[in-house]
Amino acid sequence: MKQVTISLDGVRDKNVMQLKKLNVTLFPVRYNDKYYVDALASGDFTKLAYYSDICVGAIACRLEKRDDGAVRVYIMTLGVLAPYRGLGVGTKLLNHVLELSSKQNISEIYLHVQTNNDEAINFYKKFGFEITDTIQNYYTNISPPDCYVVTKHLSQPQPKK
Ligand code: ACO
Repeated sequence: MKQVTISLDGVRDKNVMQLKKLNVTLFPVRYNDKYYVDALASGDFTKLAYYSDICVGAIACRLEKRDDGAVRVYIMTLGVLAPYRGLGVGTKLLNHVLELSSKQNISEIYLHVQTNNDEAINFYKKFGFEITDTIQNYYTNISPPDCYVVTKHLSQPQPKK
């Protein structure tokens, strides 16, 4: 059987159009310029996924600095085109961000997901994310307008004695 490779590529000015096209297809929300500025600024935390040579998915993150100086990762979007779901692309994208976060000693990753999006909620739970809050009327143009805050705490390596 022919082996198809799933590979990840960074997002740059030259290919940011790929991310824009995916978002129009995948999400009912229009993302503003700040989304793309944040995504590019996050560096390796934002990736496109290729199935063979076709761009089929992406994860886009924003790095947030807390008052105490610690950085946390906010997953702005994670999506895979419908015909390519269930093939491990979403897993590859999320694992990439989890591994990168743990390498950089980041202890918290969180995101918002619409309360009726069972597929995505179950997907995140498989990776150890938990529902930590519910925000009523988070979205303005979609129904239901409510979202869950879904969070994963990464364990920090113990400091060497
Ligand atoms: N049917 C049933 N279970 C599925 C399916 C499916 N079609 N697809 C994925 N799963 C489950 C399975 O449990 C699977 O694990 P397994 O392969 O060990 O059985 C697991 O999810 C992982 O599957 P992947 O193939 O790695 O995930 P996929 O590439 O399908 O991506 C994603 C998952 C991103 C949630 C995808 O369904 C998607 O793009 N959905 C629409 C967009 C969306 O809702 N994104 C999240 C919104 S929240 C946010 O963006 C912050």
